Amino acid sequence: MQHSDGGQREVFNTRVGFILAAVGSAVGLGNMWRFPYVAAEGGGAAFVFLYILLTLAIGIPLMLSEFSVGRGARLSPIGALRKLGGGRWSVLGWMYVFTGFLILAYYSVIAGWVVRYALDGIVAGFAPDPAVRFGEVTSGLTPLGFHLGVMATTVFIVSMGVQKGIERAALVLMPTLFGILILLAIWAFTLEGAVNGYAFYLRPDVSELLDPYILSQAAGQAFYSLSLGMGCMLTFSSYLSDDTNLTREAVTISFSDFGVAFVAGLVVFPVIFALGIQGDVSESTMGALFIALPGAFVEMGAAGRVIGILFFIALGVGAVTSAVSLLEVVTASVIDETRINRRKASILGGILIAILGILPAVSLDFLGVMDKLAEAMLALGAFFMAVFVGWVAVGAADEIRKGAPERFHRFVPSLMASIRWVVPPVILFAAVYAFIAVYTEYMSAFGGGG
Ligand code: TRP
Repeated sequence: MQHSDGGQREVFNTRVGFILAAVGSAVGLGNMWRFPYVAAEGGGAAFVFLYILLTLAIGIPLMLSEFSVGRGARLSPIGALRKLGGGRWSVLGWMYVFTGFLILAYYSVIAGWVVRYALDGIVAGFAPDPAVRFGEVTSGLTPLGFHLGVMATTVFIVSMGVQKGIERAALVLMPTLFGILILLAIWAFTLEGAVNGYAFYLRPDVSELLDPYILSQAAGQAFYSLSLGMGCMLTFSSYLSDDTNLTREAVTISFSDFGVAFVAGLVVFPVIFALGIQGDVSESTMGALFIALPGAFVEMGAAGRVIGILFFIALGVGAVTSAVSLLEVVTASVIDETRINRRKASILGGILIAILGILPAVSLDFLGVMDKLAEAMLALGAFFMAVFVGWVAVGAADEIRKGAPERFHRFVPSLMASIRWVVPPVILFAAVYAFIAVYTEYMSAFGGGG
């Protein structure tokens, strides 16, 4: 892709490189860890259907909002919002950077557990008592070490730059993840209890959809999974040229992300049901992935060991590419705001986030509260992004048309209508639930003498 404004801002080298980097951001713990359980709990196939609707009605319009601001201004969030909306709006950019800090601090801790589980499998096989092992993996000082390892890897990739770091890593890592996941799904299909697993995952329970809580969960999951609400897609799109068809890329990225989440469910549930351990799962999503699955792998003997290693490698790959995109928001903001170079900016950001991550690394309670807080911040960030693009800054429609062939232009009016009228109320609704969840989580962790 050509650099069209003659400056020296970095650009993605190829279309595929950009798409895989954006899908790398989107696909992460949210897809392979959270989606299957939120879906199963929220009504199975009915939830999946609702989720697709929300991806179309909210996810894609929001992603295009971020793209139009990012490519329009060719700056990271703080500068881009200032350029298109004036000084006041740069505050939203600062909030995005703060949210990036918050998410990456605990996200890299969980990624560290994932790496440790992969190593478990490789070195000695999965531990016979998975609940005990989960306790070991998440307490003491070792999680801190793994968190630092993940952060160091992330800093390394980001410090290498957009083309040589982020794009190159995505071109290698994402096909690896897709390949592993497809293999796992085929293998899971051959398991004896597979049908029961599918039946649990995709049982079409429409009644759940009438529950406003489920709707808020689906909306929250949609923008978390698509990396929206904190300027991540905005930042990536600032490395695009004017001939990129933003609409087509947003659709491709969103459906790839959904595809991975959906297929992850086709892996997770057959494994769990093959062994009849679904009882362990209903307690918590965390328990599901880190206790039930290793438990299943251990019972499946040698095959389970290989499969488990592959599963945790895929999960680790997804987590690292997401971590990269989170650190890129922080790094790009430092570069644009201060003229500190990329290498120093990424190291500085990485060190500060690594320090913030000490809290969730040593305390699961902290991690839980940070996760809920992050979700609430994302909802707020997504809300203001839609308001900004729909009501404040003019020119998003033109930016979206730019680089898109004529036949794409007819979608623009309904896109803009969604950005103005559909996205803000739905997100606000999700935000209210998200903030209540922060409070509940906080009270259960630290309230009442706990
Ligand atoms: N989307 C990632 C996931 O599903 C997490 C993530 C990465 C993210 N970057 C983000 C979430 C930016 C929100 C905003 O795991």
